Amino acid sequence: MEEEKTLKVQKIKNGIVIDHIPCGRALKVLKILNIEGDIGSAVSIAMHVRSRYGWKDIVKIEDRFLEEKELDKIALVAPTATVNIIKDYKVVKKHRVEVPDRIVGIVRCTNPRCITNQNEPLTPEFYVISRDPLIIKCKYCERDMESDEIVENII
Ligand code: CTP
Ligand code: ZN
Repeated sequence: MEEEKTLKVQKIKNGIVIDHIPCGRALKVLKILNIEGDIGSAVSIAMHVRSRYGWKDIVKIEDRFLEEKELDKIALVAPTATVNIIKDYKVVKKHRVEVPDRIVGIVRCTNPRCITNQNEPLTPEFYVISRDPLIIKCKYCERDMESDEIVENII
């Protein structure tokens, strides 16, 4: 690929770059971050772009930082993602997201008969059974959920 034919998403001054998102998951990441309509800062999305390891999506958000709960949710939809914190155009921190061992209050169980779906005052909770591929098990009904189901059931 000739460099001058490549359109790159521009660098940001301050904010976050969520890089190495699996292809097709960028919009899920935006949904987790509640980025719909005008959030008052610049957001860039690149989907299906070349990376050293194949193909990836990237999300860049200016003047925004992430909370622990948001990082846990991003880990579920984009386990390969890296989060880069940008200050004055420089990457000041880079870390891989990590799926927590216990997933508490961020995923809904797909079993309609599960006690967590019966209007009881219970927080849904899952254990990680496997990380690659991602499989989690409901603490209450023992239903297993795999990656695509998890992505569709983030609270
Ligand atoms: N980036 C950006 N704005 C900046 C600095 C970096 O948008 N001011 C983006 C880069 O385009 C890249 C990501 O942040 O997508 C990480 O930057 P960097 O660590 O410089 O790139 P790599 O070394 O390629 O990162 P990695 O090793 O994580 O692939
Ligand atoms: Zn359940």
